[in-house]
Amino acid sequence: MTDRSRNLAILGLQWGDEGKGKLVDLLSARFRHVVRFQGGNNAGHTVVVDGQSIALHQVPSGALHPECFLVVGSGVLLNLEVFRQELDLLTQRGVSVFGRMLISEKAHLILPHHIALDQWREGSAGTNKIGTTGRGIGPAYEMKAARMGVRMGDLKHPETLIERISTGYEEVRILLGSAAPLPSIETITAQLMDYAKPLLSLIGDTQTHLWNANAKGEPILFEGAQATLLDIDHGTYPFVTSSNCSIGGLFAGTGLSHKALGHVLGVAKAYTTRVGAGPMPSELLDATGDRLRSVGREFGTTTGRPRRCGWFDAPITRHAVRTNGVDGLGVMKLDVLDGFDEIGLVVGYRDGMGGRVSQLPSCAQDWLELQPEIKMFKGWSQPTRGVRNFDQLPAEARSYLAALSDAAEAPIAYLSTGPDREEGFVWPEHFLTGLI
Ligand code: GDP
Ligand code: IMO
Ligand code: MG
Repeated sequence: MTDRSRNLAILGLQWGDEGKGKLVDLLSARFRHVVRFQGGNNAGHTVVVDGQSIALHQVPSGALHPECFLVVGSGVLLNLEVFRQELDLLTQRGVSVFGRMLISEKAHLILPHHIALDQWREGSAGTNKIGTTGRGIGPAYEMKAARMGVRMGDLKHPETLIERISTGYEEVRILLGSAAPLPSIETITAQLMDYAKPLLSLIGDTQTHLWNANAKGEPILFEGAQATLLDIDHGTYPFVTSSNCSIGGLFAGTGLSHKALGHVLGVAKAYTTRVGAGPMPSELLDATGDRLRSVGREFGTTTGRPRRCGWFDAPITRHAVRTNGVDGLGVMKLDVLDGFDEIGLVVGYRDGMGGRVSQLPSCAQDWLELQPEIKMFKGWSQPTRGVRNFDQLPAEARSYLAALSDAAEAPIAYLSTGPDREEGFVWPEHFLTGLI
């Protein structure tokens, strides 16, 4: 295996919160560079080490490995106030990123009027609410596309900053009127420069940095945020986020070519969750759903909102496997299914006429009529929490996982049996062997 073929992308295959943070942290020890390439602080990636948990929103989840170089690519959005809070939390834990982090000069900033617009829309949308995280993600990406965005590199030219900010700011002010009391543009600019001051030395050309690293054969780990079903093109539009969270976003958000990528590890829970509005055919609105939520602690890492829960949905995961060219699955949170008498697997959908549905609908309206076809599996009595090798897995769990892998059309590469680094194992004979 050449060094380049070791470059690995870790991508979410459901509606987010699959456990990407755990896997990125776990694998980071074997990589020189860990790269975020899209999304902003709508992401909440939890890393648990020795029972201590830390949630990272914009800082790559390789942060706890001091030998890792951290890269924030051009496709990422940054809220500098939150970024500074994250760095402070890391400092309190004895972790510094200075001297080992580069932030793209092309990454866009989330500004107070983006947040105000996001929250105003959600507040006035009635039943059309998307249920965003309220972090200003949509408006910040809109400003980017409308060529009114403000980029990290602009912070190096404070003399033009007010001018850069003003076009977008004025549009939001006209739209919101007095309904949303925005800080003055002078205040926004001054605060931004204040937050930015200690970060200016970290801003640079991440594309060249990654080209050089790749040319030298230094292994690179790409950390996806959100997930394929939240992808603006390939997800459940309009109930999605505003970036490409699937594989295409990696290339756009780093400036690397597809030749720089070795493998894709797709991450999925052993069941399904979703936060916010939108279709979710596997959702269980009963005591089983409640049990998944409470045992799995399914409350948002970023917003604290309860997550909607259901059985593993093979059609959506298969769609994500195909979209991303997944080489192997990281199946997470199997332990949450411990103690269930029966476990369901959504193997297909039926439409309103009872016919089999072979493709995911592209219109939100068409999702509404879908009914899940559920295959039931016998549960296991022996707990899987903390199991660290294949031989210790109960036979029923093996059968369930074999069916899950078959239905998702991807082999299992890693199985997670608890939040801690130590809880889980590499599936026998897979490409991850030797990486963990
Ligand atoms: P991400 O956004 O994909 O990084 O996932 P989140 O961090 O938002 O949510 C995943 C949650 O599940 C976190 O609280 C993790 O600590 C936790 N977690 C990860 N893997 C496991 C596992 O195998 N079992 C259990 N019980 N919890 C896990
Ligand atoms: P991680 O990286 C789960 C969801 C929101 C909402 C939709 C749009 O932790 O997996 P946005 O604020 O992005 O405009 O909201 O996307 N969403 C997530 N759901 N995990 C995430 O990130 C999410 N990021 C956004 O709940 O439904
Ligand atoms: Mg999360």
